[in-house]
Amino acid sequence: MSKIDKNKLAEQKKYITAVKELNQANKQVLGRQKTAYISTFGCQMNAHDSEILLGLLFEMGYAASENEKEADIIIYNTCCVRENAENRVYGNLGYLKKLKQERPDIKIVLCGCMMQQDTVISKIKESYRNVDLIFGTFNMHVLPELLYTCLTSGGMIIDVWESHDEFETETVAVRQHKYKASVNIMYGCNNFCSYCIVPYVRGRERSRRKADIINEVKELAADGVIEIMLLGQNVNSYGNDLVNGETFGGLLREINSIQGVKRIRFMTSHPKDLSDEVIYAIRDCDNICNHIHLPLQSGSSRVLELMNRKYSKDDYLYLADKIKKEIPGAAITTDIIVGFPSETEEDFLETLDVVKRVGYSTAYTFLYSKRTGTPAANMDEQVPEDVAKERFNRLLKMLNDGIYEINKQLVGETIEVFAEEVNEKDETLITGRAYNNTTVHFKGDSSLIGKILNIKVTDCKTFYLMGVIA
Ligand code: SAH
Ligand code: SF4
Ligand code: F3S
Repeated sequence: MSKIDKNKLAEQKKYITAVKELNQANKQVLGRQKTAYISTFGCQMNAHDSEILLGLLFEMGYAASENEKEADIIIYNTCCVRENAENRVYGNLGYLKKLKQERPDIKIVLCGCMMQQDTVISKIKESYRNVDLIFGTFNMHVLPELLYTCLTSGGMIIDVWESHDEFETETVAVRQHKYKASVNIMYGCNNFCSYCIVPYVRGRERSRRKADIINEVKELAADGVIEIMLLGQNVNSYGNDLVNGETFGGLLREINSIQGVKRIRFMTSHPKDLSDEVIYAIRDCDNICNHIHLPLQSGSSRVLELMNRKYSKDDYLYLADKIKKEIPGAAITTDIIVGFPSETEEDFLETLDVVKRVGYSTAYTFLYSKRTGTPAANMDEQVPEDVAKERFNRLLKMLNDGIYEINKQLVGETIEVFAEEVNEKDETLITGRAYNNTTVHFKGDSSLIGKILNIKVTDCKTFYLMGVIA
């Protein structure tokens, strides 16, 4: 369980003050405030970690920079779930070498999941000597101390912990959106799906105390937040490690009753742990979106077994049917991996079969990526790239056709849409999200932003709906 440790908090606060003082002195010399730029790779949890890091940097006297080239501190919050996420980081680091030659005073900071791997640290030490500070996923909250050391001494500082600390920061995250916020309900993962690196770089499951979560949501609501996204690698096992019998279903019901919060979303929900209690909470609570992100990964029971997912094709289909029956109009979205070791054409056809039968509103599809250290990396019969790619394209076609059909059914209907922003390409349009997270564009002006509106859907494409205010 994570908690706020007053002593450690006081220690970090000392460093926050110390860095702030350095920055104030610098401001007199430079004639401007120092700035920080954060680039986030990876999932929503990483994105939320970046919001917390930015909160800490604000407390230390930095301003946010939108421009990597001009920032005084450049932070890459990295991801290692697939090889291409890592390659993007290395590519960018190559570019930073040049930037650092032009501006030797900048500080280059690396953190996040990639940093929890020894091989990555060795490679950086060898090939990217210009990096100033490295820390991992378990010690984000000591950024003030690390940054102070980095600013007052030379050389590369590396501080990566192997496990978590019973500690949470009180720092307020700097949100990307005014009306939407992410809230961690648990950290880590115990599932060890055979392809996945996350349990190795994020540690075991730790649920946050319910009172801390509720307080955070109340504070966000008081700050004008309308939509809350509850985050965890497997939110359905929330509370398993707590002593007082908390469950995710119970937590959902309590958050539903918090004044001001009008939309509650959550991710990710592992099918093996999705309880009836959670399904009923979604059904019964008005503010919880009728939407479940339910990663399938594969439709073949044989592959699911090799993936260590602990459900079969039939279990999954049964669950999807139950969701649709209990929650009328429920949207189901998913993640699918193509080309897992030994996947045959028959296995792949099973995946297509599930796709056809469930009718997903959105799906994130991935080519299997071999992750060193996971059991799947040692499995025989890795699927040739061209075979996997061909399957991937077929899957995408079927998914997109299905998504279009679902969107088409909404034409003529009036749905609730949360107005989020002025459309980037056409200023006369407002862009929002339907309950199932589908993008909706409609005529309107910026005074509508932050409101939930009834929109009549007039037209649809595969990736968005068009509508008018009803
Ligand atoms: N905890 C979440 C997933 C986190 S990772 C869950 O269980 O659903 C997000 C997605 O990345 C996964 O759902 C999976 O589809 C994909 N993924 C994870 N490891 C992968 C790998 N080695 N290759 C390709 N895709 C992977
Ligand atoms: Fe990875 Fe599986 Fe855990 Fe999700 S549940 S983070 S896919 S190990
Ligand atoms: Fe990537 Fe770490 Fe998230 S590996 S997907 S950023 S938990």
